[in-house]
Amino acid sequence: MTPGKFITFEGGEGAGKTTQAKMLAEALEGAGIETLMTREPGGTFGAEAIRDLVLEGTSDRWSGMTELLLMYAARLDHVEKLIKPALERGVWVISDRFSDSSMAYQGYARELGPEKVQALHDAVMDGFEPDLTILFDIDPILAQKRVETRGENLSRFDAESIAFHNTLRNAFLEIAKANTDRIFTVDAAASRDGVQTRILFAVSQKYPELAGKLGGSA
Ligand code: TMP
Repeated sequence: MTPGKFITFEGGEGAGKTTQAKMLAEALEGAGIETLMTREPGGTFGAEAIRDLVLEGTSDRWSGMTELLLMYAARLDHVEKLIKPALERGVWVISDRFSDSSMAYQGYARELGPEKVQALHDAVMDGFEPDLTILFDIDPILAQKRVETRGENLSRFDAESIAFHNTLRNAFLEIAKANTDRIFTVDAAASRDGVQTRILFAVSQKYPELAGKLGGSA
């Protein structure tokens, strides 16, 4: 049995990741690949309970380090119970966010520093990394407008200042620059179809055996 591939979607709020993750899952299924879509924090019963703790309440409910520990508690449950077993069965897994979010949000935007986040990551994840990451890059002001139009309840993170979201954007771009072999950045201000085309291009570039099988113009 060939193990599945682990693909993560990253970026700030309102970048359209969730919609695009669903579209990629459909494209992969269309190519005959069993695909599982999941999200972080969350994905398992325990991790979803942690999600509620971490996303609800006022911005100062948790310190940056407590937030980081909660994210990694959720992540370990998610990886052990859902992601790794699926990959071992040959299923491809798409996660709406993963560890790059901890580096960007807690490491940079919450100012814990990249070293502490990396040290915890190495201790907990033991070398487990995504095979491919799609980073959605967008101007936070445009993204905020999208979040407002969606009319959903704001999470503790949505409510942060534009300065916080600018720091976040730059952090993600730095992380992408340091991991060019794994992270592919897309301009998330483009149209829905335009973004999808870029994602399908990235996936078929990484996995040439899929070229021509994913639909779209990839
Ligand atoms: P979302 O699923 O709507 O993107 O919400 C998840 C929120 O949690 C988002 O604001 C980013 C934040 N987050 C972190 O701060 N650190 C993490 O490690 C993860 C996975 C998410």
